[in-house]
Amino acid sequence: MAFSRAIKIAPSILSADFANFGAECRAIEDQGADWVHVDVMDGHFVPNLTFGPAMCAAIRPHIRGVMDVHLMIAPVDPYIEAYAKAGADVITAHLEAGPHIHRTLQAIRNEGKKAGLALNPGTGIDAVAHLLDMVDLICVMTVNPGFGGQKFIHSQVDKVRSLRAMIGDRPIHIEIDGGVTVETAPLVAAAGADVLVAGSAVFKGGSVANPAPYGENIRAIRKAAEAAL
Ligand code: DX5
Ligand code: ZN
Repeated sequence: MAFSRAIKIAPSILSADFANFGAECRAIEDQGADWVHVDVMDGHFVPNLTFGPAMCAAIRPHIRGVMDVHLMIAPVDPYIEAYAKAGADVITAHLEAGPHIHRTLQAIRNEGKKAGLALNPGTGIDAVAHLLDMVDLICVMTVNPGFGGQKFIHSQVDKVRSLRAMIGDRPIHIEIDGGVTVETAPLVAAAGADVLVAGSAVFKGGSVANPAPYGENIRAIRKAAEAAL
């Protein structure tokens, strides 16, 4: 996984057919997805429940590229090893999920995984300054986490711009999660983001039986983002 700031599209399988995850992962990669984004929710840190480590391990053989696991759970530390063993390449934890994010990021790297730090829309970037040498990715939530299909929160674009300046030459990805569409992708790409998570905007109109719309959606988002650079 060589570092690059090229635009990467990471479909969130939260918008996939829940009876068909293996086939859905193969379909989005065949249609041009760069990473596969897995939204883990615990019904406690966020008001929704999704995937455990066993499910991640089960879909891993169906993903050729990067499995990007977004943990929206608290506590997070007791589960890091399980998601690492399940085959995640990137494990992202929320700054807001507990009092010891520094320890959490260390634990992720100790598992040999890329460490991601997610920030809710209401969280500022001051704390990030003290974590820059411990993170491989910063995820800016552009919706309140918990559900797909929500509206993009525009106030986060300035946050992305400030983060990009803070990161400087460090090899740290900026990921955007929530409400990414052909309309909003250019705003965050221009502000410095390189990984664009998109659930509803990628899966709309397609299915495992008819995957071509996934490719059209991925290409349209990528094109809109790249045109803004
Ligand atoms: C929200 C999740 C997102 C979400 C994105 O809690 O972290 O990954 O599924 O979905 P869309 O692209 O539909 O906003
Ligand atoms: Zn996510």
